[in-house]
Amino acid sequence: MAKVAFLGLGVMGYPMAGHLAAAGHEVTVFNRTAAKAESWVAQHGGASAATPAEAAREAEFIFACVGEDDDVRQMTTGENGAFSSMQKEAVFIDNTTASADVAREIYATATAAGLHFIDAPVSGGQAGAENGKLTVMCGGDEAAYARAEPLMACYGARVTLMGASGAGQLTKMVNQICIAGLVQGLSEALNFGQKADLDMDKVLGVISGGAAQSWQMENRGTTMVRDEFDFGFAVDWMIKDLKICLAEAANNGAELPVTATVAQFYKALSNKGFGRNDTSSLIRLLNS
Ligand SMILES: NC(=O)c1ccc[n+]([C@@H]2O[C@H](COP(=O)([O-])OP(=O)(O)OC[C@H]3O[C@@H](n4cnc5c(N)ncnc54)[C@H](OP(=O)(O)O)[C@@H]3O)[C@@H](O)[C@H]2O)c1
Repeated sequence: MAKVAFLGLGVMGYPMAGHLAAAGHEVTVFNRTAAKAESWVAQHGGASAATPAEAAREAEFIFACVGEDDDVRQMTTGENGAFSSMQKEAVFIDNTTASADVAREIYATATAAGLHFIDAPVSGGQAGAENGKLTVMCGGDEAAYARAEPLMACYGARVTLMGASGAGQLTKMVNQICIAGLVQGLSEALNFGQKADLDMDKVLGVISGGAAQSWQMENRGTTMVRDEFDFGFAVDWMIKDLKICLAEAANNGAELPVTATVAQFYKALSNKGFGRNDTSSLIRLLNS
């Protein structure tokens, strides 16, 4: 069993850290809002620390699941960041969805300091984190990955090294581009069905077994027709993710016309005050 630190106990990090503790690892948690760290320790045991550096000091593996690029910098190279106290050869596993550029930047800093850094964004949502069934897409060195993989398997059903540093984040971008267009298509279809006065539970029951089936339809269709969005993957996080995808596309020359349009729709939802609602709330713009 390993000594582990987990930084960031949000919707995703809280249950992910819980799976590491349930597997028998010795977990020290850090969360910016200390109350969450206290309730995590009350539920799972282990310890809490006042800073990322303190949490990381004795850990062989340090996990983070925070918001975006600058948050990852704060957790690693920032003041009281983990890199200021990590032992040589310790592995930092970043489960945040961030840019490939920040992954490569922090990987370079880690390598120069004799540390290891793996970008390891996840897919599978709140339910995947709670059930320990996430997909984990990794970028980094094979040897560090091989050491970290059994720990990531505590919360991941599919854990894969995609390539060099940044490859995990690039793979997650592919995932988010798929989701953006898909959720807009699903929103238009369900809204159309409602306007046509169809029994939408019956519609979903019939078409979810056919070619239109998707994770979004399975897991979000029913709540979308009921106008329920107070859970899941926040609109503001999707805006961040699509911004990263569009910036990367501007560099590699990929065309993302649908993704760019859907990004505008998410911004409109956020401007209306729905930034913390689930991404399936795109349908709101059609039925309001
Ligand atoms: N939710 C999903 O379905 C989902 C799915 C896949 C990937 N993701 C990605 O996973 C990451 C976390 O998502 P989430 O839904 O768990 O978000 P969340 O519930 O908003 O939690 C964010 C966590 O990061 C911490 N944090 C943010 N900025 C920080 C900073 N500057 N310094 C220290 N801590 C900071 C927050 O601390 P406080 O408690 O103090 O605010 C909180 O613990 C994001 O990159 C997101 O895109 C989310």
